[in-house]
Amino acid sequence: MLHETRVIPPSAEFAARANLSREDYERLYRRSLDEPDQFWTEVAGELAWMKPWEQVLDWQEPHARWFVGGQTNVAYNALDRNVARGLGDRRAIVWEGEDGEVRTFTYAELLREVKKAANALEALGVQAGDRVTLYLPLIPEAAIAMLACARIGATHSVVFGGFSVSALADRIRDAESRLLITADAGYRRGALVNLKANADEAAALAPCLENILVVCRANCDAPMQPGRDVWWHDAVGAAGEEHEAAALDSEHPLFVLYTSGSTGKPKGIVHTTGGYMVGTYLTTQSVFDLKPGDVYWCTADVGWVTGHSYSVYGPLLNGATVLMYEGAPNQPDWGRYWDLVQKHGVTILYTAPTAIRSFMRQGDELPARYDLSSLRLLGSVGEPINPEAWMWYWRVIGGERCPVVDTWWQTETGSIMLTTLPGAFAAKPGSAGLPMFGVDVAIMTRDGQELGPDEGGLLVVKRPWPSMLRTVYGDDARYRKTYWGEIPHVYFAGDGARRDADGYVTVVGRVDDVLNVSGHRLGTMEIESALVSHPSVAEAAVVGKPDAVKGEGVVAFVLPQLGQSVDPAALRAHVSREIGALARPDAIIVADALPKTRSGKIMRRFLRQIAAGQEVQGDTSTLEDPSVLVRLAATPAV
Ligand code: WT7
Repeated sequence: MLHETRVIPPSAEFAARANLSREDYERLYRRSLDEPDQFWTEVAGELAWMKPWEQVLDWQEPHARWFVGGQTNVAYNALDRNVARGLGDRRAIVWEGEDGEVRTFTYAELLREVKKAANALEALGVQAGDRVTLYLPLIPEAAIAMLACARIGATHSVVFGGFSVSALADRIRDAESRLLITADAGYRRGALVNLKANADEAAALAPCLENILVVCRANCDAPMQPGRDVWWHDAVGAAGEEHEAAALDSEHPLFVLYTSGSTGKPKGIVHTTGGYMVGTYLTTQSVFDLKPGDVYWCTADVGWVTGHSYSVYGPLLNGATVLMYEGAPNQPDWGRYWDLVQKHGVTILYTAPTAIRSFMRQGDELPARYDLSSLRLLGSVGEPINPEAWMWYWRVIGGERCPVVDTWWQTETGSIMLTTLPGAFAAKPGSAGLPMFGVDVAIMTRDGQELGPDEGGLLVVKRPWPSMLRTVYGDDARYRKTYWGEIPHVYFAGDGARRDADGYVTVVGRVDDVLNVSGHRLGTMEIESALVSHPSVAEAAVVGKPDAVKGEGVVAFVLPQLGQSVDPAALRAHVSREIGALARPDAIIVADALPKTRSGKIMRRFLRQIAAGQEVQGDTSTLEDPSVLVRLAATPAV
């Protein structure tokens, strides 16, 4: 990747029709930094506010308030506003289930459903400021429930449907949700996942929960607990069709989304109303070059931030037609995405490098069987994209016709921070590119020295931006420490990066103990605590190793409890139960000792080398017993 020199300009045809040219970007970017109040006033002014703001930004480091004193509503802007400007008959959501079922909602229809759902939530006693946890398959009701919460000012907390009972229960408890919205089941790789059974178990562990609202996705035969459980089709079906969106303070919390950090339990990242709305609105429009008639498909599940910002809020705020697909990319075979593109005439496709690499392994023939000529723009997100995967995506999927936008951002940033605007600049495969409007990035050393071109360092943001996280739910001290306490006066992203002489930023990967497995963030500590909670394990250390498809794989070094033996299958099943299948170790190395310093600190650096099958390099003299490394390197993984 260090020697990548290819530069891929957009086609003349794409550039000629693009929403933003290079000159536009340069002028607007300058303005966004030099005259931020005017810049953001113009952008936010394109959306509807029930009360205008008095001040664009109030920055009391590390706390930002954007559009201070303003009142608005994200669901109103996504739906009522678009219907009012004549888009009522435009398709808002085209959904396809894994089983092939298709459901379509125009903006007017989606608005009606969201109003009914908002009324149903209020009838269940949900009020502005309450947290509502969502644990759903990727079905239209997931977006409807999010928007209904936004409409009444309830803060949603979406938990990915692949997470385990205990992960779900932890998140319900942390957010103190009284309502959980789930489904009887969801389809995944042809099988039914019994979400309601998980919800019932989680409810037993989360006494704060009072009600469970259950969408019927499969066969409506879930056991319902009288007084607690309500069918969505009963509650929403009976609800009135009139509902006025609440006027919410710009800083009203829109959602909490849990993500892994390097220490402790997952953090509830808090996003608020006005700034998040403006950030996702602007970036969706600029980065994806949205135009009327586009069929936009972001493959992310709403359980992740990409699904929040770019499957739901950003595109709907822009009046786009969003394709939503419930299932796996290889169901019934690896042609499913291409079938969806052909069938629904997808023009913009946004997916993850791990998916691209999986497709790449299936060869060029499969996508060639489908008509992909509707595509005009491709996007990538979630992890560094290796130039080979980038080139394959561009060549085989995009037919060398579609620009590829590699977008770097995080749950915490709320919206895209770095990318190469498609019609404005040539892309450099493997490099995300330039900062978005208002984003002031730098590459720094640990002690806050700014680095020059091509010097590798830490990626930081030097000033607040509208869609940034506001705090960690219930733990502001952790917010201060993690994001603004590592390097004074800048936002610490946790990623390593370098910037070239043209200003293109290449993000290399995490510099902390966070793994990126198939574009999903996992804390090594989280997996370690899951491992040691198994009776056969005394101690555990988890590291990542490079994986050709997943980006990173999970490698667990485990020390058995005295007199016990470790059963790898049982241990993997245990981790699935504790966290979710995505955290299952790919390799388990049963050790008789871990490489520790004399003060007892595990030297993960050496474990990473061993996991990757490399020669151990570096100073081993601080280790209490360096011979441990030799034994570990000789132990086959199970
Ligand atoms: C981490 C954030 C952004 C939504 C999905 C993931 C990595 C993300 C890129 C990219 C290199 C990337 C970073 C970041 N990452 N996009 N285009 N190039 N790395 O959100 O779960 O909060 O993870 O994903 O390491 O810190 P997330």
